[in-house]
Amino acid sequence: MWRNVLGRVWRGSSLAAMLIAASGCVDEKIVYRDGPGFVAPPAAAANFMGYSDTTTNKTVCGNCHVTQQGKWQQTAHADAWATLQASGHAGASCEGCHTVGEEGNVVVDANVGYKATSDTRYHDVQCESCHGPGLDHVTAPARGQMLASIHADTGSAVTNGCAECHSGTHHPFVEEWRASRHGRPNDHTFATTGEPNASCRGCHVGQYVLAAWGVNTNYVEKNAATNLAGSEGVTCIVCHDPHGSAFPKQTRYAVDAQDTETNLCAKCHNRRSTPDWAGSRDEPHAPHGPLVFGDAGWWPPGVEFLETQSTHGTAANPRLCASCHVQHYNVNDAVTGAFQVTVVGHRFLPIPCVDANGAPTEDQGCAVAARSFKGCATGGCHGNSEIAARSAWISGNNDVLGLAALLDGMIAQVPSNQFGAGKVTPGRGAKFNSSLAKGVGAAAHNPFLIKTLLRYSGVALNQAYGIALPPGLAPTPGDVQRVRITTPTTH
Ligand code: HEC
Ligand code: HEC
Ligand code: HEC
Ligand code: HEC
Ligand code: HEC
Ligand code: HEC
Ligand code: HEC
Ligand code: HEC
Repeated sequence: MWRNVLGRVWRGSSLAAMLIAASGCVDEKIVYRDGPGFVAPPAAAANFMGYSDTTTNKTVCGNCHVTQQGKWQQTAHADAWATLQASGHAGASCEGCHTVGEEGNVVVDANVGYKATSDTRYHDVQCESCHGPGLDHVTAPARGQMLASIHADTGSAVTNGCAECHSGTHHPFVEEWRASRHGRPNDHTFATTGEPNASCRGCHVGQYVLAAWGVNTNYVEKNAATNLAGSEGVTCIVCHDPHGSAFPKQTRYAVDAQDTETNLCAKCHNRRSTPDWAGSRDEPHAPHGPLVFGDAGWWPPGVEFLETQSTHGTAANPRLCASCHVQHYNVNDAVTGAFQVTVVGHRFLPIPCVDANGAPTEDQGCAVAARSFKGCATGGCHGNSEIAARSAWISGNNDVLGLAALLDGMIAQVPSNQFGAGKVTPGRGAKFNSSLAKGVGAAAHNPFLIKTLLRYSGVALNQAYGIALPPGLAPTPGDVQRVRITTPTTH
């Protein structure tokens, strides 16, 4: 029988629950296993339990929470001590983040767990690193205890969650993330009542994203999203499963999936990628996923696109969005140039403005010539040449913007009664495509699709309204190969 520190067996409802579990009639989530016996934690550990078996990485928690134990054991967190030792640089200053203690959870005492005891049971980043000390809970477990936080610090001080370890020059995840727009819920998504708007929160508010993705577990902030202050943005735990996942780096969904339902980034970057005829806005909201995969835009009636994906959306670019937007590399520090600092890609910038050493600068308003194209020039892409990648971007972007300007000239001649909510017209379709093309990054996301859409939008306006097609907007031989004209459009 599993005993607590005083040798008492569990009493009351929890004992009953465990007897049921032990007899084989188990709760799906909580399975009691006869543990190897309760070993009281040293007093200095301040109620942290750590491992019950260090050789098998069996945590005390894992004796009951077998699902989390099974998943967590596969993660890098479970090897953090071994990694540190293998580095050849292990020292006391390293240990706090590679062991169980105050880092990662809200505990005031700065000298607990491993740091206070040097006991091997506290090696690695375990359950209690995130959930806090467990003695009281394992003594009398109940719901609502041990809740972890999904918050990541947005202030300058780092005092909570993943950030306590995933910060600093070697791994500045939280510093970079908080500079990105994932770091905050958008105040536009709140109705005047303060409640997040139901049609927005499934992508903009962390708690609702998790619920939409079927994560209904308990955590500290779960019920706090009733106002802007209590709402989380797209925090670490939105993208990463804290207990581990089937995908590299514990991402909740794959970065290499080629569809908008199961690709991590495209699950949210997928709103109004085709015209919303019922609404009044002839512009996309977050079309990036469908654009990369070739499903975005207004396809003029009678025109079928045969080739919709750019190389950037195929297996030739296996990490898809992440290969351009999540780049991990080392640079020398800006002050002395003597130390290596790491850029972890969590500002999600594909072509960042960088300092002399190559680290992204705070201000991202620089000219294209000052941007790094490192992410576009690896693994054989663009001949591994940043210069080639930059010129491809400049010319592709200029082409797209030039075509969009020509199309805008035609759209200006479309009768005004062709626009407005509820109307399904070539004028609105073309306006949508122009807006799609002018969106930041469109020329990288799917250059061929965009250009072909713009040119055939021009053809459609010419056919529908008799507006002259500027020669520069005429379909090219390449476009002609990319489409099949199914039924000629007549008006
Ligand atoms: C002796 C078995 C046992 C041990 C050991 C144990 N737990 Fe629990 N835990 C439970 C039970 C029982 C519940 C209540 C679950 C329920 O009623 O569904 C619970 C609940 C929880 C919850 C809250 C779930 C919720 O929805 O409110 C968390 C989080 C949790 N445990 C984490 C831990 C961590 C971390 C450890 C290690 C320090 C741990 N548990 C150790 C049995 C245990
Ligand atoms: C502030 C917390 C913290 C401290 C202190 C710390 N580490 Fe780490 N360490 C981390 C985190 C977080 C990672 C995971 C980084 C990642 O995946 O990019 C990591 C990863 C590593 C890795 C794996 C390789 C890598 O860089 O991803 C090694 C090796 C390592 N640390 C060694 C050390 C050594 C040696 C020290 C002391 C000189 C140290 N760590 C101190 C948090 C820390
Ligand atoms: C106590 C410190 C600590 C806390 C808290 C912590 N981590 Fe880590 N994390 C590490 C260390 C150390 C490593 C590197 C381990 C190694 O390489 O062996 C790591 C590695 C990782 C990795 C890399 C996984 C891989 O497969 O390479 C991910 C992803 C990660 N952590 C995410 C998180 C998230 C998300 C949170 C918060 C929910 C978090 N971590 C909390 C210390 C921590
Ligand atoms: C399907 C997911 C999804 C839904 C639902 C959604 N958004 Fe968004 N929204 C996004 C994404 C992704 C971006 C980032 C787009 C970009 O950077 O181009 C974004 C960007 C925005 C921006 C621009 C922020 C800026 O600083 O430029 C605003 C404002 C916004 N959304 C408001 C809303 C409102 C209001 C609603 C509800 C009526 C809503 N969103 C619903 C995914 C969504
Ligand atoms: C890197 C941080 C981290 C680590 C390590 C971690 N957890 Fe969690 N845990 C969380 C977060 C955050 C949540 C809530 C969000 C979620 O479930 O994805 C959670 C949720 C839970 C729940 C709630 C389940 C429910 O049904 O409500 C349990 C139980 C739990 N963890 C147990 C464990 C156990 C046992 C371990 C170790 C084997 C562990 N956790 C390791 C961060 C962590
Ligand atoms: C918008 C989604 C998203 C958010 C938010 C996010 N990450 Fe990541 N993270 C990723 C992706 C994508 C990767 C790379 C996965 C891959 O290459 O397979 C990654 C990689 C990592 C890695 C492994 C780094 C490496 O190169 O080995 C760590 C550690 C990590 N993230 C920690 C964090 C932490 C801590 C936070 C919060 C401060 C966070 N992430 C927020 C998407 C996200
Ligand atoms: C949970 C939904 C969600 C996921 C998953 C997600 N994003 Fe976002 N992303 C957003 C929202 C919402 C915004 C806009 C936030 C705002 O401005 O209020 C945004 C903004 C961005 C921006 C603009 C950043 C900036 O700082 O200007 C980029 C780039 C981006 N996302 C790329 C990615 C990539 C790459 C991934 C996958 C690794 C990803 N996103 C995953 C919801 C998401
Ligand atoms: C081939 C590289 C590449 C791929 C793949 C890629 N992007 Fe981009 N993305 C870019 C470039 C380049 C920009 C323009 C950045 C700029 O001008 O600052 C951009 C811009 C963006 C922006 C607008 C950022 C802002 O500052 O407003 C978002 C959001 C975005 N991409 C999301 C995604 C998502 C989601 C995916 C995957 C479905 C993806 N991207 C795939 C290169 C890429």
